[in-house]
Amino acid sequence: MADRYLSFAGTAPGRFLTQRLGLPRPAVLHRWSPGSPALDGDLLHLTAGTSGLALAPVLARTGIAFGEEGGAAGRAHPAAVVLDATGVRDVDALAEVHSALHPVVRSVADSGRVLVLGAPLDPADHHQSAAQQALEGFARSLGKEIGRGRTVNLLRLRDASAAESTLRFLLSPKSAYVSGQVIHVGAGPARPPGDWERPLAGHTALVTGAARGIGEAVAETLARDGAHVFVLDVPAAEADARRVAERLGGSALTLDITAADAAERIAAALPDGLDVLVHNAGITRDRRLVNMPAERWSPVLEVNLGSVLRTTDALLARGTLRPGGRVVATTSIAGLAGNAGQTNYGASKAGIVGLVRSLAPRALDAHGVTVNAVAPGFIETAMTAAIPLLIRAAGRRMNSLAQGGLPADVAETTAWLAHPASGAVNGQVVRVCGQSLLGA
Ligand SMILES: NC(=O)c1ccc[n+]([C@@H]2O[C@H](COP(=O)([O-])OP(=O)(O)OC[C@H]3O[C@@H](n4cnc5c(N)ncnc54)[C@H](O)[C@@H]3O)[C@@H](O)[C@H]2O)c1
Repeated sequence: MADRYLSFAGTAPGRFLTQRLGLPRPAVLHRWSPGSPALDGDLLHLTAGTSGLALAPVLARTGIAFGEEGGAAGRAHPAAVVLDATGVRDVDALAEVHSALHPVVRSVADSGRVLVLGAPLDPADHHQSAAQQALEGFARSLGKEIGRGRTVNLLRLRDASAAESTLRFLLSPKSAYVSGQVIHVGAGPARPPGDWERPLAGHTALVTGAARGIGEAVAETLARDGAHVFVLDVPAAEADARRVAERLGGSALTLDITAADAAERIAAALPDGLDVLVHNAGITRDRRLVNMPAERWSPVLEVNLGSVLRTTDALLARGTLRPGGRVVATTSIAGLAGNAGQTNYGASKAGIVGLVRSLAPRALDAHGVTVNAVAPGFIETAMTAAIPLLIRAAGRRMNSLAQGGLPADVAETTAWLAHPASGAVNGQVVRVCGQSLLGA
């Protein structure tokens, strides 16, 4: 469903009118396309506090041209600014955050990136915790005011080399619709791929609900990254599932994910094992609770949560998910913020968050498998095209980028979480919502 307002706002009369009338002014986002570099432009590397982070060698490996403050690279209109604030340990050092970014923030290119690096909070030091927590309020506020399609995120890390895939993602146009996020990268294993262009070469991925919408885009992106993709969907969607699988050189698997034998049939279709499991299939059956019969409650809980728990458990227990494997589940901002008419959907999607946070450390310890979730906001799909006009219009604009995201935005985020070098990213719930006001 085309966003005509976005197209209009980009024209000369559109720019004039939206400015005069004080209307939202969405920028056409710069998204990644094949053959593009990791970052379209230079990166400015700034520091606040005394940092011990070895960032420069990791940035050098990415091929991104970067320079320090006052240096040649990145001075005019940097495509990205990275502020290393891992060494900010007290309120005084926060002044350096201001003095580093205040002079340069205006010059960041359209659709550019501001990435603040923070340290994990130190429970034994409330001054460090206060100063580091302050970075969240800072980053989220800057995200809301920076405009022109620019994003602001906070990445907490100890070891820059464990965060290479995350840095590449957050700095690139692949994260165009990810803003206002706080992401933690731990100390888990990060296996750099032989080829950063095809990191999933030789890997097998399975995406549920992949015959259309976001799932189709995820399947496409994982196939682009080299994976052999199993496109799973219900028997009624068999023709579409086959079409997608054929186009991607993958395989179609038609079954209802809620069927009692679903995990068994998946395992049987994957005798050599699975590296990436993406739980994307999802349904809505909206009604206010007073009008919601059990027939509208149960299927939503079953498809969106029950089947996710069952298949994950079974595929881990059978060893179908190989060590180094990745589980990426799909929640929603409705699961984080709640949404009128969606008690069933909100419950199911909040359940995914509980699943991810609880299982992630144990699955990594016991199976070498990471478990994360993506939380889409308003994404332009058949699901959101069915929303009544006025609610749809509001849903699109109620975020810092003032527009809906595309299935590809969720797909790129999933591909980053599925990346072999993302082993230190675990238990994260990453919103792909343009910094939606809902549950922010
Ligand atoms: N579109 C959005 O704005 C948005 C926002 C937040 C979250 N999400 C979530 O993203 C996911 C994909 O959303 P979408 O908009 O692409 O939806 P969609 O309705 O376009 O596609 C969902 C796919 O899942 C399949 N499916 C449904 N039940 C199934 C079952 N029992 N077994 C196997 N496959 C089944 C459907 O046939 C369909 O192909 C869902 O989990 C949804 O809740 C979407």
